[in-house]
Amino acid sequence: MDEQDWAAVVRAAIRAPSIHNTQPWWFTATPDRLELHLDRERALPVLDPTGRQQVISCGVAAEFAAVALRASGVEPTVDLLPDPADPDHLATVHAGPAREVTAEDRALAEAIGRRHTERAPFQPRAVPDELVDRVQADAGRLGVWLKPINESEEEVATVFLISRAEEIERSDPGYVAELQRWLRTDPAAVDGVPVEAVPSEDPATRPSNWLIRDFVVGSRGGHSAFLPEGDATAPPPAVERPTVVLLGTDNDDRTAWLLAGRALGRLLLEATTHGLAASPLTQALDWPATRARMRTRLSLVGHPQMLLRMGYPSTEGAPHSGRRPVAEVLRYSTAG
Ligand SMILES: Cc1cc2nc3c(=O)[nH]c(=O)nc-3n(C[C@H](O)[C@H](O)[C@H](O)COP(=O)(O)O)c2cc1C
Repeated sequence: MDEQDWAAVVRAAIRAPSIHNTQPWWFTATPDRLELHLDRERALPVLDPTGRQQVISCGVAAEFAAVALRASGVEPTVDLLPDPADPDHLATVHAGPAREVTAEDRALAEAIGRRHTERAPFQPRAVPDELVDRVQADAGRLGVWLKPINESEEEVATVFLISRAEEIERSDPGYVAELQRWLRTDPAAVDGVPVEAVPSEDPATRPSNWLIRDFVVGSRGGHSAFLPEGDATAPPPAVERPTVVLLGTDNDDRTAWLLAGRALGRLLLEATTHGLAASPLTQALDWPATRARMRTRLSLVGHPQMLLRMGYPSTEGAPHSGRRPVAEVLRYSTAG
């Protein structure tokens, strides 16, 4: 593979979602492989002191790199944590033999550019069970379990824990300061969460049981990007009933986090090819206490890694969040 090809693969990899759009990665390319490293300078010490959510984000980037490589006619192999002496060297993607590109390869790679986190309410239309079964099977192949939260008791428990976590976060000045550092008002920003991509109204006022993360705690303006303005006689908006799924792993170490990220990446691309969108609801997993309670309340064997709401988007497109240029995150090495 020449250098140009790796740049294209990295361009796809960095479209991965990442917690607060921190993009906590850098890459090194040699002629036959791409290394993915954790960038500790982009850490979130309050929200993510163990780096769990950032490693998950890097797992998604590894999956997107593999998908891009496959669609370019090259068989990828992904090695996780290949260097025991360097735990921040999270993955190496090897370029293997040439392969025939299938329509599915192309569709998944094409979904990379269209996928985005969709926080607006979804249409009142159910996600087909077959699709949930399919993403569950895909996750299973990576050793990651997927549990739909559809029993009412489980839903009540999960909704409660998310609300509880959100309450803890809103009252934690360290958390709020960190969040504000990653919120962006400049539409040309290359990282962080663009203010146009988050609800301007208090998420607690939305007609949904599922409380999305409040990114503008304490600095909310008057207008709403999500609710129609003005007409007091309009019927109330339909209550959103998204499909909510929990991804989890048997272990809770960097390998497990990377696998959860790969499974998340695969799920998001698969969902995008079917016209669906998603947004993580990870507040309850941010804090050890609420995360542990989720394990007990849902009788989980293993560790919850990612909670996600999925549905059909009600709006066309969404503000794209920025990415740092490839040149800033990719270096080339001649080392064999
Ligand atoms: C591990 C992880 C956790 C996330 N948690 C949340 C969350 O709790 N709430 C939310 O609205 N978005 C969450 N996100 C989505 C990111 O904010 C989003 O990916 C990022 O801003 C880039 O935007 P994009 O996904 O539209 O490209 C999370 C993403 C990852 C990978």
